[in-house]
Amino acid sequence: MVCAWYMDKSDADQREPHKPENLQMVELDFLKSFGVLYWKLDVDNLEGEGLLAKIRKDRGYTYEDTISVSKETLPNYEEKIKSFFTEHMHSDEEIRLILEGTGYFDVRDKADQWIRIEMAKGDMITLPAGIYHRFTLDTKNYIKAMRLFVGEPVWTPINRPADEHPQRKGYVQSLETGTW
Ligand SMILES: [Fe+2]
Repeated sequence: MVCAWYMDKSDADQREPHKPENLQMVELDFLKSFGVLYWKLDVDNLEGEGLLAKIRKDRGYTYEDTISVSKETLPNYEEKIKSFFTEHMHSDEEIRLILEGTGYFDVRDKADQWIRIEMAKGDMITLPAGIYHRFTLDTKNYIKAMRLFVGEPVWTPINRPADEHPQRKGYVQSLETGTW
């Protein structure tokens, strides 16, 4: 089951959980209501399980690679960590399946509040094109993820504000119609 909650407003270390005292957890259906999709996969038996193949087929994901985020493995580590945590959007979906380690995706809900989604081995998430979001490692400082994409990958973040961007406008429109 997905583990997600409304973040506190503290400016303590981004790698901390940021759970407020009056903790409000968020359900899968709620994430889905603004386009964030989540699956739990058996990463030790991806082929046997067949779920990844089904998701790939259903959603047209044709590209995949892996990224290892740690001081030792990621070139320009400090710079990348900073850019991952700068609020941004993309013109395409952001799709990640966690293979090892842990981290947090933060997404803006419809009321522009931060929801933190805890990601660990087997968690797969799709963020729709145009949603404002960010990513951080937690205090364990390591995650390894599969990145998927439809066609030739584009990883470029478009930092907020990007309200005039066509994909942002499209996303805002989808919020009204609820179609993803
Ligand atoms: Fe992103």
